[in-house]
Amino acid sequence: MCGIVGYVGKRDCTDVLMNGLSKLEYRGYDSAGIAVFQNGKIEVAKAKGRLKNLEEHMKAEGRPTGQIGIGHTRWATHGEPSDVNSHPHSGGRVTIVHNGIIENYKELKDYLISRGVSFDSDTDTEVVARLLDYRYNGSPIQTISETIRDLEGSYALGIIFADHPEQVYAVRCESPLIAGVGDGENFIASDVPAILEYTRDYYLLEHEEIAVLGRDGVHIFDAYGQPVEKELKTADWDVEAIRKNGYVHFMLKEIHEQPTAIRTTISPRIQNGLPNLEECGITLEVLRGFRQIHVVACGTAMHAGTVGKYVIEKLARVPVTVDIASEFRYCDPLVGTGDLVIVISQSGETADSLAAMRLAKSLGAKTLAIVNAMGSSIAREADMLIYTHAGPEIAVASTKAYMVQIAVMYLFAFELALAVGQIDETECRRLVTLLEQTPDSIAEILERKEQVQYIASSLITADSLLYIGRGLDYALSMEGSLKLKEISYIHSESYAAGELKHGTISLITENMPVIAVATQTALREKTISNIKEVKARGARVILVCRASDTIDPEAVDLRYDLPDFDDLLMPMIAVVPLQLIAYYTSVLKGNDVDKPRNLAKSVTVE
Ligand code: AGP
Ligand code: GLU
Repeated sequence: MCGIVGYVGKRDCTDVLMNGLSKLEYRGYDSAGIAVFQNGKIEVAKAKGRLKNLEEHMKAEGRPTGQIGIGHTRWATHGEPSDVNSHPHSGGRVTIVHNGIIENYKELKDYLISRGVSFDSDTDTEVVARLLDYRYNGSPIQTISETIRDLEGSYALGIIFADHPEQVYAVRCESPLIAGVGDGENFIASDVPAILEYTRDYYLLEHEEIAVLGRDGVHIFDAYGQPVEKELKTADWDVEAIRKNGYVHFMLKEIHEQPTAIRTTISPRIQNGLPNLEECGITLEVLRGFRQIHVVACGTAMHAGTVGKYVIEKLARVPVTVDIASEFRYCDPLVGTGDLVIVISQSGETADSLAAMRLAKSLGAKTLAIVNAMGSSIAREADMLIYTHAGPEIAVASTKAYMVQIAVMYLFAFELALAVGQIDETECRRLVTLLEQTPDSIAEILERKEQVQYIASSLITADSLLYIGRGLDYALSMEGSLKLKEISYIHSESYAAGELKHGTISLITENMPVIAVATQTALREKTISNIKEVKARGARVILVCRASDTIDPEAVDLRYDLPDFDDLLMPMIAVVPLQLIAYYTSVLKGNDVDKPRNLAKSVTVE
């Protein structure tokens, strides 16, 4: 959510900031701004809307020129998206950009107003800028250190002081922030892609650490202003990974990257044909110790957990619950010693998932994180960790991250089933081999897109539609439905096919599209009966099933034919057409596919 960039060096700072912000666009935002030292004076440019609005604004009003500054893309939480609420915010001698929420901003604002301080914007951020300025005593580190003691909530701050025109300062609590280290130039950023063109080396700022960036280097201090030594990390992401490489959208590129992402994620965890998660802290011994598993996550990651639940319960016969993290954290969950809590997150920074994990730990459960972003908060705090190696996912709508999350859930389920004696090594090897074959079937689907394009063209006039399925197909239909609504803006819901009759079928009207997924052999006839029920009420049925299935042509209007594959692993194959249907529907509607309205890639507020 929101992006922060800061630069100290020899290049044109406005270029570096704008370029860095463009790499963080995927996080979601509604306005943007920069502050640059120009001839020793802070010049601010900011505008509501996309970065191109800011570019246009600078064309008309003047482009700040200098070599030191900070930039921001805002995802409004306090105060509507507007020019004045856009960051940077200035408190006089101090100018800041902020990601997060200051929960006690009202109290601090009232205090400052009582001291004669006045405000320009409605943001919580301006309160921090004014408070820093109010406290400023000529020592930036001391002022920051004292001020953060009064802040409650989450923040990553990029700060410049008018009388320190050679430095950029930064501090964080909860919200992510890194300090990039270059040669004679240094950076701050919310995420690695923003600095990857300039350097791969960076420090991960910890809770309440303060960074001071000059041309000569990055110095880091603790919350009390004492210097700290930190390990320099090196990003192993390729610069190509953050470019579109000829694809029209990141989402399409990321859908195509799925076969490779699966291989990269599972290969290092397979030895002699069996899963091996030892490097992640998971052994057969450890697995035998869990009596109950809880999966906690948000959005697409929660859907991946739902697939995991079906697979774990079927293979290992260990009970699994799946909870939405924002519910779990406030529902006094029945979790404790002997339980395993699996937190799934692409970004590793989702505020609710992080809080849910902390709660689970405090209740005595062991935690396993399945995370894509290296060094993220969830990755760092979990007891056990499996990285999904999908590389950076830029499109807001998650595709390849979901794919590798479920690939990891399968591997985990295979190993657990082996550990508890529900399957033997021969069966486990068979399942692992099947998992290794999924990339080829996915690649085959990616070769032919006509069918999905045709289906997408039939959806663009719909106001609302339903996804239905049973068992694993139901789990999958949840993801298909979310994907479609987030980028096409067409209302859709997913339903367990057998549940329709209990109310939802009343929504079916003439020509309402219903996308049915029927890949589970044992449940196929049941789902077909449900299809006939909606068809009889006028629905337009689109069926996703195997090419080899014989289905009464009267029951369906359009079919998507999947290659043959084992039932259990079918979600990995069948999700691809659902992703592509959402993608092409969004394209045909002329939407901003990679940056859908109102959404943020990394939801760092609850
Ligand atoms: C996916 O398409 C969504 N944009 C969203 O549901 C996402 O999966 C969710 O916010 C969780 O994010 P995380 O995986 O980074 O924790
Ligand atoms: N809470 C701040 C605001 O509304 C920052 C939001 C963000 O993280 O972009 O301006």
